[in-house]
Amino acid sequence: MRDYKRYLITAALPYANGPVHLGHLAGVYVPADIYVRYLRLRGRDVKFVCGSDEHGVPITIKARKEGVTPQDIVDRYHAINKKAFEDFGITFDIYSRTTSAEHRKTASEFFKTLYDKGEFIEKSSKQYFDTEAQQFLADRYITGTCPKCSSEGAYGDQCEACGTSLNATDLINPKSMLSGSVPELKETLHWYLPLDKYEPWLKEWILEQNKHWKPNVYGQCKSWIDAGLQPRAVSRDLDWGIPVPVEGADGKVLYVWFDAPIGYISATKELTKDWEKYWKDEDSRMIHFIGKDNIVFHCIIFPSMLKAEGSYILPENVPANEFLNLEGDKISTSRNWAVWLHEYLEEFPGKEDVLRYVLCANAPETKDNDFTWKDFQARNNNELVAILGNFVNRALVLTHKYFNGVVPALGELSDFDKETIAEMPKIKAQVETNLENFKLREALKSAMDFARLGNKYLADTEPWKLIKTDEDRVKTILNISLQISANLTTVFEAFLPNTTKKLREFLNIEAIDWDSADKLDNIQAGSQINNPALLFEKIEDDQVEFQVQKLQNTKIANEAECAEVEPQKENINFDDFTKMDIRIGTILEAEKVAKTKKLLKLKIDTGIDTRTVVSGIAEYFEPENVIGKQVSILVNLEPRQIKGIESQGMILMAEDADGALKFIQPSEKVKNGSGVR
Ligand code: 2FM
Ligand code: ZN
Repeated sequence: MRDYKRYLITAALPYANGPVHLGHLAGVYVPADIYVRYLRLRGRDVKFVCGSDEHGVPITIKARKEGVTPQDIVDRYHAINKKAFEDFGITFDIYSRTTSAEHRKTASEFFKTLYDKGEFIEKSSKQYFDTEAQQFLADRYITGTCPKCSSEGAYGDQCEACGTSLNATDLINPKSMLSGSVPELKETLHWYLPLDKYEPWLKEWILEQNKHWKPNVYGQCKSWIDAGLQPRAVSRDLDWGIPVPVEGADGKVLYVWFDAPIGYISATKELTKDWEKYWKDEDSRMIHFIGKDNIVFHCIIFPSMLKAEGSYILPENVPANEFLNLEGDKISTSRNWAVWLHEYLEEFPGKEDVLRYVLCANAPETKDNDFTWKDFQARNNNELVAILGNFVNRALVLTHKYFNGVVPALGELSDFDKETIAEMPKIKAQVETNLENFKLREALKSAMDFARLGNKYLADTEPWKLIKTDEDRVKTILNISLQISANLTTVFEAFLPNTTKKLREFLNIEAIDWDSADKLDNIQAGSQINNPALLFEKIEDDQVEFQVQKLQNTKIANEAECAEVEPQKENINFDDFTKMDIRIGTILEAEKVAKTKKLLKLKIDTGIDTRTVVSGIAEYFEPENVIGKQVSILVNLEPRQIKGIESQGMILMAEDADGALKFIQPSEKVKNGSGVR
């Protein structure tokens, strides 16, 4: 690996339209922070930049829904997320925001530079315009029928029912969400970055020179490039964003994905007057930490923008992660299916490192992974408590018990001692190689092997048995155990920073640098250690059950909401309605249909005749309780065979949000055969 003079590490700017959740942390912020802490530990010159992404249509939609301004929304979530990151211990050098004056200026100038160099194509196209609201409509502001699956309520960019990506002009019966009116197509001028022009260069730069990128990242780039790149619009008709700095571009702003990555530059500018060294010197190494949905923007579009500008370096690596699911389901802000960081911090005070550990041990590095509270508990109890915590605690407690907390001297080494000692540099080298190659899960596993080495050493040497017969041997064993403990403070430093700080306090030592962290002189014989406390506590079943129940409640609330807001069906005309002959009838007889759970066979006096209807209500009504009830019945429904019985009509039922059924009945008794209109 080339030796770089300095490092610029960026973490994707989260949208300021909701709180940060575990998916964000596992995909981006925990890995980035581990990597940065490791670089700092190695004495590298690092700048770690991030901030809130505060533009884009979803923020305006949220503001409209709440009846507040977009600025109110981003102020709220910027504050929540900035604080949550700080409390959790993500060590950004700066957490800025894209509504800052510096960012507006930087993004505006960047656009202007490209514009002046003639790097954009200007193109007019037809887009939907709301004539009542007098504005062009972002794709998310248009709904209609999906041309693929015919669902109502598809958006102009995507149908959420079938997942198809759409163009707004594909929608059947488009409607503006602003005024409810039918939008018209109108010409509008925009600026496009001609990605097709950069295709040959991207082919060479990514596919030839960046073969070391992770397979998921490389693969996604390759399929984009193989499919052929098209010019990409970098402006939008919207009233929230950075105005396009060109005369006559009133009402147009920079596309959020144009300005957001420039946020990394503006944040660095806000951080240091030396910002250009990090952005423009070939001796600087830039790494983007992102989630997989951001790959195209960071590997293809932003590098093309930087290349077009001409004076910037390009990312040396983009170690994007896949997604983290939650208890088997996709994490979703809108469905509230998430564990929010600020809530975790309130509910598990002092357990920041446990979450860092679990998210790194289970990081979605090569495929989507699932977070479950059971796994969280198991990793804490079986790994952090039982391996790392247990080893360190035994070493410290035995030193207090046998030697009053004074570090004993090292005596003659046995072969087993020598073997154990020889393992330390090997394991540390594995941690190092894996960290350098962004294999953080593996790196953490290797760090845990360091603790396992200590555990095994104590278990095999059994100093508690030797103390009566061979105190000198016990001195050596505990010296080695304390040296391993001291080295663990460095090996785990990037992963569990709060724990390693605590452990250094117990051992009464200063920080040990990386190169020394496999040696035997990191804690001096004769020095006094402090009284230890437990490094980790067990997580009990009730804590985990509480969290699972909380999620379960979200699921129930979501299902109820879905049932309540089932979208309106397609309009029918009056003739369609009058075709239905609905009457009031009385149930005369009722019995269960054999070998079924749901079906009742009913005999009904419809006022016209007595007929048989098979109805799927057996889970809610006992046969004897429905006899004599008046019900509404659709009498001209074509007869159907159900379980060998001819059903001559259908009983109308109301369905509760929870799926329970109730009869549709007249409020007072009426004559059988009365029509329902
Ligand atoms: O996907 C997202 O959450 C975006 N807000 C990430 C932006 S990263 C960068 F380009 F700013
Ligand atoms: Zn669809």
